[in-house]
Amino acid sequence: MKKDVIIACDFSSKEELYAFLKLFPDKKPFLKIGMELYYAEGPEIVKKAKELGHRVFLDLKFHDIPTTVKKSMAVLSSLGVDMVNVHAAGTVPMMEAAREGLGDKSLLIAVTQLTSTTEEVMRRDLLIERPMEETVLHYASRAKAAGLDGVVCSPLEAAAVHETCGESFLTVTPGIRFADGDVGDQARVMTPLKAGKAGSDFIVVGRPITKAPDPAEAYERCVNDFCK
Ligand code: C5P
Repeated sequence: MKKDVIIACDFSSKEELYAFLKLFPDKKPFLKIGMELYYAEGPEIVKKAKELGHRVFLDLKFHDIPTTVKKSMAVLSSLGVDMVNVHAAGTVPMMEAAREGLGDKSLLIAVTQLTSTTEEVMRRDLLIERPMEETVLHYASRAKAAGLDGVVCSPLEAAAVHETCGESFLTVTPGIRFADGDVGDQARVMTPLKAGKAGSDFIVVGRPITKAPDPAEAYERCVNDFCK
C-alpha cells in the first residue's frame, strides 16, 4: 500500500472543517475524523467528506463487548469509510466481532498503546510491567490473529511491528512532530522524515498541520519528508 499522510481533523464543527479544507483547493488529503467532529456533527460529516472526494479514517476507537462492537461496526459499514479502528485491549473476540460486523471493504486497525502513554503510565495505571515495545508487538500479533489489517502504534515501534507481523500488516502512526515543534500531550514522537525511514505506512498528523501558520505548507512538508 502506498505511504500517505493522514490529517487529524480534530475540529468541533463542520464549519471549521470546511474552512480548513478550503486551504487545499487542488488537493484531496486523506482525513481522519475523530470523536470530537463525529460526535458534534454525526455520520453526515463522514458522508460529506467522502462526497468531496477525500479518503476517510474514522477514528472512534471502539472498545466494548463483542456483540455491541459487531453491531455498531455493521452500522458504520454503510458509511463507506476507508479505515476504522478498535482498541486491541478489547481482545481477540472483540476484534473478530468488529471484522465480522464491518466486512472487508474498509481497513480495520487496532490501537496498541496510545502515543500519549509511557511505560511508567502503563505500570502505574494499567499494571502492565512489560516494556512498551513488547506490549505493542503482543497487541499487534493478537490484532493480526483476529484478521485485522494493521495497528495504530508509535513510529518508534513500526519497524518491529513489520518484523513480527509482516510487511503488508499496516502501521498507522500518530505522535508526529517536526524537529522544532511542540510535543504537547504526545509522549512517543518522531519527525515525518524519520517515521518514513522507520517503516510507517501512514502518519497521522494533527496539530503540526492544523495549528501551523500555513497548514497547506506544513502538509506539503509532511508529504515530502515522509514519502521521499
Ligand atoms: O495533534 P496530534 O498530531 O497529536 O494528533 C494526533 C491524532 O492521532 C489525534 O487525533 C489523536 O486522537 C490520534 N491518536 C493518537 N494516538 C493513538 C491513536 C490516535 O494520537 N494511539
